[in-house]
Amino acid sequence: MKKCLTLIGITMMSMTMVFAQGAQETEMADDSNTLVISNVAPSGDLEIFSWWAGDEGPALAAMVADYETKNPDVNLINATVTGGSGVNAKAVLKTRMLNNDPPESFQVHAGQELIGTWVNSDRMYDLTPIFEAEGWYDVFPSDLIELIGTDDGIWSVPVCVHRSNNAWFIPENLKKWGVSVPNSMDEFFEVAEKLQAQGIVPLSMGQTWTATENWENVALATLGAQDYNSLWSGDLAWSDPKVVEVWENFGKLLNYTNKDSSSLSWQQATDMVVNGQAAFNWHGDWAAGYMMTTLNLEPETEFGWAPTPGTDGVFQFLSDSFGIPLGCKNVDAAISWVEECGSKSGQDAFNPLKGSIAARTDTDLSLYSPYSQSAASDFANDTIVGSLAHGVVANEGFMNDFSSVIEQFMSSKDANQAVAACAEIAASNDMI
Ligand code: GAL
Repeated sequence: MKKCLTLIGITMMSMTMVFAQGAQETEMADDSNTLVISNVAPSGDLEIFSWWAGDEGPALAAMVADYETKNPDVNLINATVTGGSGVNAKAVLKTRMLNNDPPESFQVHAGQELIGTWVNSDRMYDLTPIFEAEGWYDVFPSDLIELIGTDDGIWSVPVCVHRSNNAWFIPENLKKWGVSVPNSMDEFFEVAEKLQAQGIVPLSMGQTWTATENWENVALATLGAQDYNSLWSGDLAWSDPKVVEVWENFGKLLNYTNKDSSSLSWQQATDMVVNGQAAFNWHGDWAAGYMMTTLNLEPETEFGWAPTPGTDGVFQFLSDSFGIPLGCKNVDAAISWVEECGSKSGQDAFNPLKGSIAARTDTDLSLYSPYSQSAASDFANDTIVGSLAHGVVANEGFMNDFSSVIEQFMSSKDANQAVAACAEIAASNDMI
């Protein structure tokens, strides 16, 4: 992973917490965040909490099965709240945390979603003893460890690395419609005109968080990796003409998306491509997992992929991880779960089905699809930047406010109004 990821890590540590005020309103169930690893086999109930339900469930189920063979005395309760990117789960989790009713372990994105939300409000166990005992400093990329750590500890265990700047398409359909995969935003707009003339939706889009993902793709294409990072470090002003151009390009993009986007799940947006209603879907590579694992499509022949236009050579990344909240009832079982999340067997059970690559660097790539093998190679060679929509570069407060800005922009298409609103929410969420 390249240097800019380190920069993001450093920048994020200087950002402030999101829920800290709310979190401090209740008394902590446990005021020590030091883990003691026991040698006794864990038993009893273990509740793990995530948004990997339904179509997103098989990868988690495979890792749970691997866990259960290793931990026969534990009763694992797989608590899920449906809703892509955790739109519903995060709200439920927040309520439970504030009511001192945490699960043993929960899904959280590496980066500001973890640090700015739960670590800064002193809600998590320090997992340093596990990293030391398991020798994980040698198997996880050091830049990724920086994203889940602070000067005071390491706060979660990364399971996977997902890419958010992918364009998905059906090769045969593109051929039929006489278009090829665009390499720049300008090429995309040309191709989009040709598609629209044939009654094909150029780009399928789902509900707001997927629009945010598309916005971050456009931002990366318009700004390039360096300025994209500068936006999150506060070195590029929201009012900069380049950022106005991002919003203008995004506005132009919206001319080529389906009008019912706000009512579609990410799977339904993917389905539009699979069913031949739309040419492209720009989305995280859980879409590859969905197409391979749920829809049984063959990568390369039955679906294709490319970096979103104008982002070749850059890997926009995010990582799902699991942490252990203070106050959970069964700490020993929680430890055994995060050990599973970081294990080679757990990651090689989970990731091939999920469309992601392992967070560990020593996993068996022969188990992975051609898509994931190509992602692994890009992750090793590309410039790495963090995803906004999935918690890497900005805290939860900013992300929530940014969703409102996106929604407003989708009706107003006013780029100047959007940059002014972003400058405001960046300030109010301590991002600048
Ligand atoms: C992301 C998460 C992915 C996937 C996606 C869709 O936030 O990191 O693993 O679940 O949401 O729900």
